[in-house]
Amino acid sequence: MSPSALISPLPPSLDQMAVAPLQLGVLASGSGSNFEAILTAIVQGHLQATVKVLIYNNPEAKVADRADRWGIPKVLLDHRTFGQREDLDHAIVSVFQTHGVDWVVMAGWMRIVTPELINAYPQRIVNIHPSLLPAFKGIRAIEQALTAGVAIAGCTVHLVEPEVDSGRILMQAAVPVLPEDTPATLQARIQVQEHHIFPAALQRLALDG
Ligand code: GRF
Repeated sequence: MSPSALISPLPPSLDQMAVAPLQLGVLASGSGSNFEAILTAIVQGHLQATVKVLIYNNPEAKVADRADRWGIPKVLLDHRTFGQREDLDHAIVSVFQTHGVDWVVMAGWMRIVTPELINAYPQRIVNIHPSLLPAFKGIRAIEQALTAGVAIAGCTVHLVEPEVDSGRILMQAAVPVLPEDTPATLQARIQVQEHHIFPAALQRLALDG
C-alpha cells in the first residue's frame, strides 16, 4: 500500500455534504449584470452552483464579454435566424442538454419562452422580473410602476410557467419610489436588489435539493 493511501482526505464541510451544486444554464439578452452577480456569489461561496454555459441572442450583448472575462462557455443563438419561437427554444434545450444543465436561469432574457423549453425543464426555469409581481407583468414594468404612481417598487425571482411572469414566487425585494425618479434611476435602485435576491433565491433552491 502506498503511504498516501493511509491518509484520509479532509472531511467535507457540512454544507458541501448536504448540497449538490446546481448546474446552471443562463439565458441573457443584455448587459448581464445579473449574470455577473450570480458568478460573483458562486466564487464568494454564497451560492453552490456552476454556470455551465451562457446562451445569448444578440451579437452586441455585453453579457458575452462578461462570459469571456469569467471563462464561461457562450453560445450565440440569434432569434432572427430561427423561423419560429419553438425552433429557437428547441436549439436552447439542445445546447443546455449538451452542457449538462439542470436549472435554467433567465437573467434578462427578452424573449417569450414556449412549451418546448418549459416542458424540457419543468419547474426548473427561474426568471427575474423588475416589479413586485403580480403587479406590472410584461414589458416596461418599471415604466408601468412610475405611471401607476406607486410608492414602492421592486423585483421578483419566480419560476417560469407558460403564462408570462406567473409561476411560483421564490423571493422579492422592495425599494422606495422617489418623486424625482426616472425609469433609469428607479431601475438602478431595483437592480441593486436584483443582484442580492437572484443568487439568494438560487441558493435556496440548491438547499431544497
Ligand atoms: C433586469 O433588470 C431584469 O429585471 C430584467 O432584465 C434586466 C437584465 O439586466 N428581466 P442585466 O442584463 O442583468 O443587467
